[in-house]
Amino acid sequence: MNKNISVVISEDDLRRRVRELGAEISRDYADRTPVLVSVLKGSFIFLADLARAITVPINLDFMAITRYGAGKRGGVVRIEKDLDLAITGREVLFVEDIVDTGLTLGYLVRNLQAREPAGLAVCTLLDRRVRRLANLPIRYTGFEVPDRFLVGYGLDHREQYRNLPYLGALPEEGKGAVQP
Ligand code: PRP
Repeated sequence: MNKNISVVISEDDLRRRVRELGAEISRDYADRTPVLVSVLKGSFIFLADLARAITVPINLDFMAITRYGAGKRGGVVRIEKDLDLAITGREVLFVEDIVDTGLTLGYLVRNLQAREPAGLAVCTLLDRRVRRLANLPIRYTGFEVPDRFLVGYGLDHREQYRNLPYLGALPEEGKGAVQP
């Protein structure tokens, strides 16, 4: 079933890097209780593993969004499900699976900043810098990845492959395609 998918980041490498990120975040947030905020759906596996690699107490919350504009990448975002928790005065760690253009992140960071958290930092598993249109500070990055269509470890192609335990690339026809 997955014979056409090439491994880009192995399960072992993902596990090792997520543990490192968890340790770094635990050191940085010692004696604090950050709220990990994540956007459905792509980050659900990374978030689940990262949360278990963090040793300080945390809260968790989720948002769901839809995007508009050219190819759904126009940077216009509508929030379909907002946070349940109030983040005013809280340390927020925004957890993403991938930052491409940065437009989604830009919108959401502005939206969260308006709620006046005590601090707001970004953690992304994957950074595809080559597609960046809007630059925002990212405090924690798992891997910088090439301009290939990636699936697995939460990332999908037409809602498939999210459950692959590794990060893979679809064959060449997927290359250059916009991540759905
Ligand atoms: C991905 C990812 C970010 C966004 C990044 O979501 O989770 O939210 O794309 O893209 P950008 O930097 O170009 O704005 P996706 O659209 O794949 O939805 P999903 O998380 O439901 O799979």
